[in-house]
Amino acid sequence: MSSSFKSSGQVSYELRGDVAVMTVSNAPVNALSLAIRQDLVACIKQFEEDDVAKAAVIVGAGKVFIAGADIREFKRPATEPHLPDVIDGIEACSKPVIAAIHGVALGGGLEVALGCHFRVGVKGAKVGLPEVHLGIIPGAGGTQRLPRLAGYEKALEMIPSGVPIGADAAKAAGILDDVSDEADAVAAGLVFARSVIDNGTPLRRCSELVAPAVDAQVFADAKAAVAKRARGQKSPVVCVEAIEVASQTSFADGMAKEREMFMELKNSAQHRALAHAFFADRALGKLPEIEGIAPRALKSIGVIGGGTMGAGIATGALMNGLAVTLIERDDEALGRAKATIAKNVGGAVKKGKLSAEQEQRIFAEALSLSTDYASLSEVDLVVEAVFEDIDVKKQVFEKLDEVCKEGAVLATNTSYLDVNAIAAVTKRPQDVIGLHFFSPAHIMKLLEVVVADKTAPDVIVTGFQLGKIMRKVAVRAGVCDGFIGNRILATYRAAADAIVVDGSTPFEVDEVMLEFGFPMGPYAVADLAGLDIGWATRKRKAPTRDPRERYFTFADRMCEQGWFGQKTSKGYYVYEEGARKGTPNPAVLDILTEERKEKQINAQNLSKEQILDRYMAAMVNEAAKVVEEGIALRPLDVDMTLIYGYGFPRWRGGPMQYADEIGLEKILSNIKAYAQEDAYFWQPAKLLEELVASGRTFADLNAESGNNSAAKK
Ligand code: 3HC
Ligand code: NAI
Repeated sequence: MSSSFKSSGQVSYELRGDVAVMTVSNAPVNALSLAIRQDLVACIKQFEEDDVAKAAVIVGAGKVFIAGADIREFKRPATEPHLPDVIDGIEACSKPVIAAIHGVALGGGLEVALGCHFRVGVKGAKVGLPEVHLGIIPGAGGTQRLPRLAGYEKALEMIPSGVPIGADAAKAAGILDDVSDEADAVAAGLVFARSVIDNGTPLRRCSELVAPAVDAQVFADAKAAVAKRARGQKSPVVCVEAIEVASQTSFADGMAKEREMFMELKNSAQHRALAHAFFADRALGKLPEIEGIAPRALKSIGVIGGGTMGAGIATGALMNGLAVTLIERDDEALGRAKATIAKNVGGAVKKGKLSAEQEQRIFAEALSLSTDYASLSEVDLVVEAVFEDIDVKKQVFEKLDEVCKEGAVLATNTSYLDVNAIAAVTKRPQDVIGLHFFSPAHIMKLLEVVVADKTAPDVIVTGFQLGKIMRKVAVRAGVCDGFIGNRILATYRAAADAIVVDGSTPFEVDEVMLEFGFPMGPYAVADLAGLDIGWATRKRKAPTRDPRERYFTFADRMCEQGWFGQKTSKGYYVYEEGARKGTPNPAVLDILTEERKEKQINAQNLSKEQILDRYMAAMVNEAAKVVEEGIALRPLDVDMTLIYGYGFPRWRGGPMQYADEIGLEKILSNIKAYAQEDAYFWQPAKLLEELVASGRTFADLNAESGNNSAAKK
């Protein structure tokens, strides 16, 4: 390894008596950028040459030790010094090097620590190798050093899951040599260094350790278990394979193999998708319209309606420390709502997500139930979750306008209705917003924050704040029929129905989408949600349906027979009593044959690839329209909506990222080809045409928005 790098000062070198303290500072998380790697090499060289320094301590400045490699650099060709070489250089040092960890040591950060001869953590520190979540494996010795230090079982637990562990657990596993009582990492490192110098403790290099042997079956079992959970994502399985390599070869050969596996994944679509998702997560709340604006006070909320959604929203709020006043129409409905909340909260206690004391406090202090709207006079925010009927909602908002205090945020959980129309019945439309939760609301991660024409910026911030308190992923959406998610869903469901009527079966479509990585296919989802819901919507929309729209009757015919899906044990699938997974209902195929006969459709047998192409083209096209109209601010907002609310596989990055990978030109040409059959449905989004014409991608649009840190250089 070359050691001619001159320190740029991002890693400082300072003598404290006979101990050299090297401080890595690259705010905000000390990512191991090129400059940091160069500096580490220079500092280690300086330490070797420094006659005064008897030991060195590596620490991180700010709130963490080191959070890993700089993910943004992964898009560019790797530049020397490579991290594995930097770490080998630390390990090869002839004098003791100690990692003193506070906050987190993640990924390359933990790998740096594993290259040190000793590791000490302060209380509250966490260590982990989360690379798997980025579609890669640890690529700087993590898969080779960790099993040698902590054993294969521990490595198999930590690396494929990517879940960090706390300081005490890390000490128990042998990853940390000590958990210090010192207040900061520098002090902890200095104390540890003193004892190493004074005791002449021999250097301990992970690469030279030999882990106790394990049966090869351990790896086979781990691979099978991990593959099942990963559902198409490659990196968890490769993590297991890389750890297995450590059990089979020398350290040097293992490192070479790890590098090969790492580089292959780093150049994969799955890594690009997961890195996109990582940065998109962080960009969601960065909106120019709310920059620098503080949220309104948020300690207590009101929930109107204690049905499926209201009870779930109340549960989620209570579990996260908010006081909730729930309003229902009568005492009986209140009783039902309370029972649902009790069941939800009880379930959380059983799963260890909540303590029995917290449960008790919720029912003793935090939850109030009432039929009187006046009980809402002091709450900071209200979420309305009554029937999906605009007149009922308007009446509720008129009442809220009368009773709520000035400045209270008035939110509707409507799925489709016009938030502007709801806001207009109040004298304070600036305080009205849509907060669209997903069912079950105390579990599902997504929250669409629906901004109406007059919504005030601090109300938007408060919507995001509620999401944060309730541990949701909040996405900004604009007002339209179905906002971001349900609007796109309606379109790809319509495409699926056309695929089915034109010759495929619902079961084939479901199978294709399962293989793609969705947890369920669209027809299994429809059975779960209840087929009667879509039926009611279709009847409601019948008078305004465009005559050019192809209308399919098979789903209506199923409903006419009383097949509403799981709740009636029959829908697209037949469900044995109590079973959540069904077997295909053959009668559905007869209904489809009838419809084809009536419409004189010659059934065409689409391949799996053709089914996927149509389904995804419909999703991407509608998503592009949603961005074009400003309903979603950026493509990344669509991606995260589909990932967190609709089961889109994260390792594919969402529909827009997927479209970029496939190529927008191909998607557009598919749409144009399908338009030959149905020009009304397959109208290409202008945005898609524009992007293709200018040779740009959805990722370019994300970057142009300036709020996506992945795009920052
Ligand atoms: N590289 C580049 N930027 C990073 C980064 C990284 N490894 N980790 C975090 N950031 C950026 C974020 O994008 C964010 O940027 P922004 O302010 O512009 O949006 C900023 O740092 C702060 O991050 P968070 O908002 O996530 O801050 P938190 O305090 O909530 O969380 C954290 C801190 C726990 C360290 C979290 O950022 C995290 O989990 N980071 C990623 C850790 C990781 O995956 N490490 C492995 C990297 S791959 C690797 O090391 C490969 C190696 O094996 C060769
Ligand atoms: P639901 O029918 O289960 O519950 C509605 C509740 O509101 C009932 O308990 C009813 O008694 C109560 N209610 C009706 N009028 C009231 C009034 N004036 N004052 C007080 N309480 C009143 O309906 P659900 O499914 O909970 O839906 C509620 C809202 O949430 C709807 O707008 C729906 O579109 C939306 N939504 C539903 C989702 C779902 O998956 N069910 C998902 C996301 C949003």
